[in-house]
Amino acid sequence: MLKRPRRNRKSQAIRNMVEETRLSVKDFIFPMFLIEGINQKVEVSSMPGIYRYSLDLMLKEIEICMELGIMAFDIFPAYPESKKDRFATESHNPETFYLKAIHKIKTTFPEACVMTDVAMDPYSSDGHDGLVEKGKILNDETLEILGRMSLAQARAGADILGPSDMMDGRVGYIRKVLDENGFTDVSIMSYTAKYASAFYGPFRDALDSAPKMGDKKTYQMDFANHSEALIEAQLDTEEGADFLMVKPALAYLDIIKLLKDNSNLPIAAYNVSGEYSMVKAAAERGWIDGEKAMLESLTSIKRAGANVILSYFAKEFAMMEK
Ligand code: PBG
Repeated sequence: MLKRPRRNRKSQAIRNMVEETRLSVKDFIFPMFLIEGINQKVEVSSMPGIYRYSLDLMLKEIEICMELGIMAFDIFPAYPESKKDRFATESHNPETFYLKAIHKIKTTFPEACVMTDVAMDPYSSDGHDGLVEKGKILNDETLEILGRMSLAQARAGADILGPSDMMDGRVGYIRKVLDENGFTDVSIMSYTAKYASAFYGPFRDALDSAPKMGDKKTYQMDFANHSEALIEAQLDTEEGADFLMVKPALAYLDIIKLLKDNSNLPIAAYNVSGEYSMVKAAAERGWIDGEKAMLESLTSIKRAGANVILSYFAKEFAMMEK
């Protein structure tokens, strides 16, 4: 035998040399859940180790994360039913706690990269990402609401907007609204290939945002498909997106690779709530080694081609690296 691949695996020193994918804390965006009030820290029951924070405690948590090297945060608000309506009106109320918090986070930590979520569901009494009329999701009417929400978030100081709704034409619409109002520097990370997935369950628990009727299959993609991910990627690119995202990540590594191979834009992948909770649940039962499973899954996402990883594991990974 002239070739023995095992020679390159014979010691840790050699394995380190030939290691092709190396995770860094700089790869991550840490998604966090915000609630109104003070001194609140409530664990999400289906996501052990992940909390909903009031602003005061979130600021402390962000400070800890930044000391660990995490520079980017994606903030999601949880609103009570009393603040929700059909039109997601609260989303662009300049006095709403979410927008005030974004402003406070940016002024407290100007060097942090703050990403906001653009979608109706946290504020919608229907629990959908689009305006519902007679059981239908109205695409173009939703764009106007997303435009107002985006402008309000840009005014609050967001660095990156993350449209997570999957309405047609929203990236171009939001880009135009931002540019017309002087926010040419605000970036858009589009949820380009967002699939209708069972893995969002714990997130919907965290925000109490599950759809009241039906499902999200008329706007989120069918998990059997890959060609339409290319159509979405092409449209988002033409419409001015700065990053293309694939969501979820682990069951969609082929889609991450597909977009990476077909685009020059940076590719982000969202390692979603259900992917986090599966590892945590199995680890709690002692069925797998949670830390090793975390490292292996995060590395596979980067190996598939993701430049940016949104993950609830971000802080745990950063602590492990220290
Ligand atoms: C909705 C939204 C969802 C997530 C982020 N934004 C859920 C959904 O589409 O119902 C899921 C994130 C996660 O599961 O971690 N705009």
